Amino acid sequence: MKPFAFAAAAAALSFTVAGAAADALDDRKELMKERGSVMRILGPIAQGKAPFDAAAVNEGLATLDANARRAVAEVDALWPQGSDSGDTKALPAIWADFDAFKAANGKLAEATAAAASAAPQDLAAFQAAFGPVAASCGSCHETYRRP
Ligand code: HEC
Repeated sequence: MKPFAFAAAAAALSFTVAGAAADALDDRKELMKERGSVMRILGPIAQGKAPFDAAAVNEGLATLDANARRAVAEVDALWPQGSDSGDTKALPAIWADFDAFKAANGKLAEATAAAASAAPQDLAAFQAAFGPVAASCGSCHETYRRP
């Protein structure tokens, strides 16, 4: 390959890699933002600051469950090696032990699956189902997200 062609190919390749990492940042932040928007509905209900609404609660839990399943299925694409730099709060600890990070994603998905299938019809049942979900968010952020 001529030097120019090689340089151009190398430039195109590094552009592709950087582009994939940037897409991953956008995609995972979108995923997290959807979680955040559901939590803004479910959190106040769990704390008794908003009235219990079975339809809203079950819709929110179903959304969280689909979201958490997607995070498990797409964990490699959403968190590619080296995507701890740039506009991200992801900590290098994610890639120091990626299996542990995968397990933390799995833990959330287990909690959301249990909560969604519990289909809570009153506040007490909802609080019991919601506790492990919120705890999974918090413990992962504590370990893997820059404050
Ligand atoms: C397996 C680990 C893990 C779990 C579980 C998790 N998060 Fe996150 N979350 C992260 C990481 C890491 C970031 C930083 C992402 C980045 O900046 O690239 C983040 C970022 C966020 C953000 C900020 C998004 C933005 O940039 O605007 C919100 C909101 C959020 N998470 C909400 C939640 C909620 C709510 C839950 C639980 C339902 C949850 N997360 C569960 C790891 C996790």
